[in-house]
Amino acid sequence: MVAEKAWKNVDLSVDIAGLKMKNPFTVASGTFASGKEYADLWAATLTANSKCQSPDCDRIRIERLIALGLSEEKPLSIMGAVTTKGVSHKPWSGNDGVRITETSSGMLNSIGLQNPGVEEFCSKDIPWLASQDVPVIVNVSGHSVIEYTEVIKCLELEDAVSAYEVNISCPNVDCGGMSFGTDTKAANDVVTACRGITKRPLIVKLTPNVTDITEIARACEAGGADALSMINTVAGMAIDYHTRKPLFNRKVAGLSGPAIKPVALYAVNRVHAVVKVPIIGMGGISCAEDVFEFLLAGASAVAIGSMNFSDPLSIPNILSDFIDLCVCEGVSDIKELIGGLK
Ligand SMILES: Cc1cc2nc3c(=O)[nH]c(=O)nc-3n(C[C@H](O)[C@H](O)[C@H](O)COP(=O)(O)O)c2cc1C
Repeated sequence: MVAEKAWKNVDLSVDIAGLKMKNPFTVASGTFASGKEYADLWAATLTANSKCQSPDCDRIRIERLIALGLSEEKPLSIMGAVTTKGVSHKPWSGNDGVRITETSSGMLNSIGLQNPGVEEFCSKDIPWLASQDVPVIVNVSGHSVIEYTEVIKCLELEDAVSAYEVNISCPNVDCGGMSFGTDTKAANDVVTACRGITKRPLIVKLTPNVTDITEIARACEAGGADALSMINTVAGMAIDYHTRKPLFNRKVAGLSGPAIKPVALYAVNRVHAVVKVPIIGMGGISCAEDVFEFLLAGASAVAIGSMNFSDPLSIPNILSDFIDLCVCEGVSDIKELIGGLK
């Protein structure tokens, strides 16, 4: 671990279309709910380590995480922003049957955007998120253009919401979701409608399950997207050889985790070459080096997703390692990395 003075000199701040993040780390929607359980765990880990007398205790890392904003009262404020699970206008019950299975170097999910709807989200999650002192990006889901705009209209009344991430890329719902993200006109329509009702930063989340992601990216930018996030999960399937049936009721599911990192990096790099808006990169990020690579490919910020399941402390730990890496690589301002691929 590098000396304290050196890591304090690294400027980690980024600006995503007016959304000011003190560091480039957020969480990938749906892998963190609204963060309450993770906050409890991060706080408990901090308490345990603060009291720990063992020489094995990584005291320097703990002190650094505290300096970065980790506290027992507001653990999430260590991140540049928190991104919530997808929120729809009415409650969605999600998909029946198996919902998750592990794969080599990743996982497949078919959750189907289960959530209690925007009303309950506003009454239960928003007040708690507001207490965390961290910018809040709400991930928005819909079956139709009107459903997307209804969610945003409700959220416009909430001061604690900093930005929207419009999910036009979920492979796990029959109607809406990915169908908006695979057609340039449909993508443009939904973005234009959302743009019309908010001045807050509008981030649009893209699917890799298209022939040319740059066409969809351009259509979203033309519709008024302030930023793009990518990638959502890669369409895949699993088979139960014994029953000889698909494992998931809908057959298709979404692949995430380290297995998809090369796909995600390539998507970020291609889109960065054709749009002016900033990109939040995600897909298989599992270590500080991955974050570095996504910034070089063209991302201005990154989201950690499936890693939260295998290591619930991955966000604070990768953030800490990333600062070390910046110091070792002679980076004093991470903005110099963005799109810096030679
Ligand atoms: C269990 C699970 C639930 C997800 N739910 C959402 C969601 O509600 N909205 C969304 O835009 N993306 C959702 N995603 C996609 C992730 O946000 C992310 O784009 C994808 O998993 C790739 O990142 P990763 O490889 O780091 O997990 C979900 C992914 C997983 C694994």
